[in-house]
Amino acid sequence: MVVGGDELRAGVRRLGAELSQAYPEGVLLVAILRGSIWFLADLVRAMSCPVEVDFMAISSYAEGTGRVRIVKDLDLDINQRHVVLVEDVVDTGLTLTYVLGELRRREPASLEVCALLDKTTRRIVPTPVRFVGFEVADDFVLGYGLDFAGRYRNLDFVVAGDLSALREDPDAHVADLYGR
Ligand code: IMP
Repeated sequence: MVVGGDELRAGVRRLGAELSQAYPEGVLLVAILRGSIWFLADLVRAMSCPVEVDFMAISSYAEGTGRVRIVKDLDLDINQRHVVLVEDVVDTGLTLTYVLGELRRREPASLEVCALLDKTTRRIVPTPVRFVGFEVADDFVLGYGLDFAGRYRNLDFVVAGDLSALREDPDAHVADLYGR
């Protein structure tokens, strides 16, 4: 287990309190579909300040290159808004760097990042993550929104997966993780 259910809930509560304190006047949370929505749904309910949410979807041109394109853009105008980008995990930082650059061009009043998990040792591009749930090791992780080939997102905890086994069979962990 990388982060258990109770620990996750406590971490999300702490982040909710930190965000509420940082943005007493309110904040716009931007989440990248789809992995962040489990975290986002719990995070907003742990916040005691006014919150709006909006979504973006991106797709990679090629794995690990950081070249991504926006396939669904925000519906809201973020100009002069206080914006926090909500991410499930920051790994190399390549995706986030692209998205932050894109959002910065729209001139928000402020722009910060809130990540549930931060794999700091994997970073290729320095990426400022102001609100961090948990620093995790260089494992491929599953659960609480994180997937392999669309599987495992609904697990209520975060667990390390065996990438080579998953590449051979995306359902490799179904029996152990769903108790079947
Ligand atoms: P980055 O561009 O390398 O920072 O990768 C960010 C994206 O890669 C995340 O938003 C996830 O969608 C995906 N990702 C990175 N690490 C993991 C992992 O351990 N499990 C599942 N998805 C991951």
